[in-house]
Amino acid sequence: MSGIFIAGTGMYVPPSIYTNDDMSKLVETSNEWIKDRTGIKQRRFSTGEPNFYMGAIAAKQAIEDAGIDPLSIDMIIGSTITPDYCTPSLACLVQSEINADNAFCFDINAACSGFIYALDAAHTYLSSGKVKTVLIVCSENLSKIIDFTDRKTCVLFGDGAGAVVVTSGSGLFESYLKSEGKNAQALLCRALINTSPFVTEADNEKYAKYKQTNGSYITMDGRETYRFSTRALPEAIEAVCSKAGIGVDELTLIIPHQANLRIVKTSAEKLNIPLDKMFTNIDRYGNTSCASIPICLDELKKSGKLTRGDKIALAGFGGGLTYGGIVLEW
Ligand code: ACO
Repeated sequence: MSGIFIAGTGMYVPPSIYTNDDMSKLVETSNEWIKDRTGIKQRRFSTGEPNFYMGAIAAKQAIEDAGIDPLSIDMIIGSTITPDYCTPSLACLVQSEINADNAFCFDINAACSGFIYALDAAHTYLSSGKVKTVLIVCSENLSKIIDFTDRKTCVLFGDGAGAVVVTSGSGLFESYLKSEGKNAQALLCRALINTSPFVTEADNEKYAKYKQTNGSYITMDGRETYRFSTRALPEAIEAVCSKAGIGVDELTLIIPHQANLRIVKTSAEKLNIPLDKMFTNIDRYGNTSCASIPICLDELKKSGKLTRGDKIALAGFGGGLTYGGIVLEW
């Protein structure tokens, strides 16, 4: 087997819509600024639904779309940077909701590149013959880690989940994955800190340089992230096409991580392709991190815009820093 078959897709976005004008009631910003700099017009925020709840709804849709029995799923890969628990994993929580009792389950953390990394892992497991059916669930409750007093970040993100059912296929599949841990400072969100009674003031001082201090919120060097993203996205597409032995012009469609419309436009220019080869829906959902690409896939599939046999490329980039691309035959 060389490729994969995306047998089913699903998505969930919270029903509550927040426009740019709503955001301007929280911080000093405007619809014009947000639209011009990012392409975002509105986003969805969870008003209480947990991360795994969103993921489970997306998963149920993907399973129904694929027409499979949940008991036939061998492996569930969860991807999130906003889990409900340190343990159990998102994947285990979703397993319980969908009664996929025969699956083994684990999560990955590759931030906005999570779907790309998960799909590559699914391909590797499927190719090895160890599993036959994989469920990937990407779910993000980013509003938990947004500082709603920081205009530089709060206007960019939204909540949502996307899921796919993947089996073996015969078509083209190639991947290109990269990480740059040395540049991690550009995009951070701290996890729990050690407040044990055994930590002394001296210890706190000794390790202070390893601590980011802005609570457990996303902090981002916007310009640095922008520079990274406009380098990473075209590189990932070019490199994965080259590995696959095809030209970028042979792709029917590119589905990039939805972070900023300007990043997509700049990347299209660098790749010398028309902008309409790049699918975007960032105007409606903002940046939903790893959920953005499977949400795009679901919208494209349900609206009949993908035809079996199409060569498509997916590309992610984000915290870690991580990035990567996948070329596959739909
Ligand atoms: N409304 C109004 N003004 C704002 C806002 C806002 N929401 N945010 C920042 N500004 C102001 C700044 O304070 C600054 O004002 P100053 O010059 O008086 O200090 C001015 O706008 C310019 O700020 P910059 O940060 O330089 O603005 P820039 O043009 O770079 O746009 C943006 C900011 C949209 C965040 C851009 O840097 C960007 O898109 N970066 C990449 C972000 C991204 O893609 N992140 C996600 C990738 S990884 C992932 O998905 C997790």
